[in-house]
Amino acid sequence: MFNALANDLAQRLLTGNKHAQKVFLKRRLRAMALPGSAAALDFGCGTALFAPAFTSLGLRYHGYDIDQPLLNYAARLYRGGVFTASKDLLRAKAPFDVIVANCCFHHIPDAPLQEELVFLKSLLADAGWFILIDILAVPDDPSWIHRQFMKLEQGAYVRTREAYRHNIERHFTVRNELVSRSTAFSLNLDWFPIYNDLLVLECRKDPAAGGDGFATAGVR
Ligand SMILES: C[S@@+](CC[C@H](N)C(=O)[O-])C[C@H]1O[C@@H](n2cnc3c(N)ncnc32)[C@H](O)[C@@H]1O
Repeated sequence: MFNALANDLAQRLLTGNKHAQKVFLKRRLRAMALPGSAAALDFGCGTALFAPAFTSLGLRYHGYDIDQPLLNYAARLYRGGVFTASKDLLRAKAPFDVIVANCCFHHIPDAPLQEELVFLKSLLADAGWFILIDILAVPDDPSWIHRQFMKLEQGAYVRTREAYRHNIERHFTVRNELVSRSTAFSLNLDWFPIYNDLLVLECRKDPAAGGDGFATAGVR
């Protein structure tokens, strides 16, 4: 429990309680006009910092992670959610109207990631959305400060846009692609050198399902 608390507090401090990212995610979820009390899965939820972005929209929140102590911690903080490390439980709760994998896939190598994507596709409602949000690698990064910041990143599979898309497009149809800059302390300053650029891929399971190009104006 102490490690989970330290992890949670460090993230909240460094990211300004992830305020900017929560606002961004909420805006994207709202734009999807999901059905009333839709079921949402936060895959790789960690300490569930993003749970309020889902629940404040009336979505039924399910947090999945492989780290049980983080789930125990999150379940104490967010009483209304379902928190599990069980894939069987997810199968029982499926289908989900929206599945978000937020900064999780950069911890997973390609081969197991393919298996996770097959699993996630099986959980998604036919008219549902899968949203990937993940840290973009910056090849030939010109900023020394940013390069040092990236060395703190614990995930070993921070990918380029092309590599994320290559993995995702074997299973889903990408409808919208955005890049959202997440700056330390949620500062809204373009010049600030401590940031992550997050690739956002909003995807359909069924290529015939609509929804491309909605409300992307003003994204940063
Ligand atoms: C950087 S944290 C992101 C947590 C949260 N989504 C957020 O954005 O604050 C990555 C999380 O992915 C989880 N994770 C790593 N591999 C996973 C897997 N194969 N399935 C589910 N979760 C995984 C880790 O346990 C960790 O909690």
